[in-house]
Amino acid sequence: MSENQIEGLSESFTREEYNSPEIFALEMQKIYGTNWCFAGRSDQLAQIGDRLVVEVGNESILILRNRESQLRAYYNVCRHRGSQLCDASGSGFGAAITCPYHAWSYSLEGALVATPLHEKDSIDREALNLKSVQVDQWQGCIFVSLDPNAMPLLEWLDSHYSRPRELEKFEMHSLVNARTTVDEVQANWKVLAENYSECLHCAVVHPELVDLVPVYKTGRTIQADRQDWGASLAPGKTSLSHDQNETLDLLPAMQDLDDYSVFGAFVYPNMLIDISPTVAVLTRYVPRSPTHTTIYTDYLFPKSVVDDKSLDLEPTISFSDMVNRQDIAVCERVQRGVSSKSFVRAYHTKIERYCHQLIRRYRAEIN
Ligand code: FES
Ligand SMILES: [Fe+2]
Repeated sequence: MSENQIEGLSESFTREEYNSPEIFALEMQKIYGTNWCFAGRSDQLAQIGDRLVVEVGNESILILRNRESQLRAYYNVCRHRGSQLCDASGSGFGAAITCPYHAWSYSLEGALVATPLHEKDSIDREALNLKSVQVDQWQGCIFVSLDPNAMPLLEWLDSHYSRPRELEKFEMHSLVNARTTVDEVQANWKVLAENYSECLHCAVVHPELVDLVPVYKTGRTIQADRQDWGASLAPGKTSLSHDQNETLDLLPAMQDLDDYSVFGAFVYPNMLIDISPTVAVLTRYVPRSPTHTTIYTDYLFPKSVVDDKSLDLEPTISFSDMVNRQDIAVCERVQRGVSSKSFVRAYHTKIERYCHQLIRRYRAEIN
């Protein structure tokens, strides 16, 4: 029997798939270049003229709120000589986006409206509008697709085995981001995605978490006796927090459940949603290279909680951050291992069944 076929195991990614720059470039084109990618929260663009600069695949994308208060997205590239237009997110474009090189200006609709030192009619400005990119939002989350023929966002969300739209009852659009953390992780994005897709490691890596969510000790993330894909907290536990006596308001719909519960969904390829009684944690992967991924994590609470300055969010945020840090440590350890020339490929057991789904979708898109 070859190393590729081992009884009781199914094949995961190969050493090349975790390390090769050529395969990484293909992934940016065929996976990040075609799927909808989670790009940020719409409340980051609260005012007309606010902008968000994000990396999607190999591209820098400029997202802004236009004068009708709608979102627009463009390649962050000037049509004159190709300078990047904006370096960073911010506010206050006013009426125009002005290139820092020769000061050509574009309206918030992407139309070229000024070309200093040139007569208005000497250049066919209409041929030089910014190149637009598809943008849409769901539950207060902005998604961008570089594919002009991308299917509608809701239809695309429905194509996920993890059923993210079941989480709409928690009304994430109504929640407010209290903090964003940024981690530079020395691991391939698929190492992170596989790690999120299984809980075989939970009892080993997350002792504090499995004390609060007992089903995680079994390597499973959902309970066989629940149809809603939730997992109940241990008796007497009320939140994912270091402080079980805290009194933060519950998320919408949480009080309708029989038990204090947690829910999760991986929105392929770059978003994690983790719902617990008092906080929704949104995670965004931005792959930088085969062995480097930036992770952005947002901690969302009901507005009443964020507005009440007497409340201490630290025990809740630091609990999730601790779990995040435990995951980052094992993923970086995996990346070091899968870089060894002795390593051929990884495997999944039957319990790691959501990893199988991940691989299936990846293979369908990359081939
Ligand atoms: S490159 Fe933008 S104005 Fe010249
Ligand atoms: Fe984990």
